[in-house]
Amino acid sequence: MVNQPDYEDILKSLEAKYKAIDQDTDDHLNGLLYSKPITYWDYIHTDALLSLQIQRTTLPDEMVFIAYHQINELLFKMILWEIKQVAEKEDLDAVFFEGKLMRISRYFDMLTTSFNIMREGMDVEQYMKFRYTLTPASGFQSAQYRLIEFASTELINLIDDRFRETINRNTPFTHAFEHLYWQAAGKDYKTGKKSTLLRNFERRYKDEFIKFMETYNTKNLWTRFKELPKKDREDQDLVNAMRHYDYTVNVTWVMAHYNTAIHYIESGLGDGEATGGSNWKKYMHPKFQRRIFFPQLWTDKELKNWGQNI
Ligand code: HEM
Repeated sequence: MVNQPDYEDILKSLEAKYKAIDQDTDDHLNGLLYSKPITYWDYIHTDALLSLQIQRTTLPDEMVFIAYHQINELLFKMILWEIKQVAEKEDLDAVFFEGKLMRISRYFDMLTTSFNIMREGMDVEQYMKFRYTLTPASGFQSAQYRLIEFASTELINLIDDRFRETINRNTPFTHAFEHLYWQAAGKDYKTGKKSTLLRNFERRYKDEFIKFMETYNTKNLWTRFKELPKKDREDQDLVNAMRHYDYTVNVTWVMAHYNTAIHYIESGLGDGEATGGSNWKKYMHPKFQRRIFFPQLWTDKELKNWGQNI
């Protein structure tokens, strides 16, 4: 005989659930009579998703450029989703921390290894044409990428090397913001003048960034790591996961991105300038940029050679 579901038990659980939020169970059961059965396309919102790839030119490979950037943004969203769970976890331990870090790293590994989709899968001649319609925009203006940085480490590790000594925990966030390492891509430090790339970015996101910086000041990945009990901080699997994440974001991904930029911008077909207008070759290489989320987890020699041997 087939086992009958225990309706009484289910009803009791439903009553408890709705009572807790002052709702009538029968209203919700009646609602079930009229709710539409779900389909894949309604659930995933396939139509909405597939209507977002809108070209500015007639060149077919612009579609690769748009779709690949959107895929990156979706993965950035997933990365932030996992970081938030570490940030907000009560009774955080090494096993939970490591599990989430490995999820985050797998997303970044995927971003790194898939850069060939751009490098090999997008015609250089077409890129060198449609990019003229994109100036002065740049991936530099990816807000989620900046949020990942703020959520990963203490602010001091994101401050331009040249200004670190002038900034400490009592520095106002607005001041620290002006000295973030990435300001160098859009600011002339002699005159202080900001490029259009940077001005547009700040107009849209600065307030949001300052709030986020404040929030994650006390719960970024590094701060949460430091709060763990000693035995968890010495857990080799967790330390390896932290190092892997740091290296993947700040060296491997950066190099895959840099090599892609070289492939296109230095193809000999254009003027060698970036759409965002930065001194890009210097700015983008990890050996100059030296963005490191967890410097305390690397040896002096490893820090000295950061980004050199790749
Ligand atoms: C043909 C492909 C690409 C080229 C030629 C390229 C080029 C560049 C250049 C030259 C910069 C420096 C800022 C500037 O002056 O524009 C930059 C920054 C940036 N791009 Fe790309 N990029 C490409 C693809 C991508 C993709 C697929 C993403 C993923 C979202 C991305 C995300 C970023 C980010 C986050 C920055 C800021 C990096 C930082 O501040 O360290 N780029 N890109």
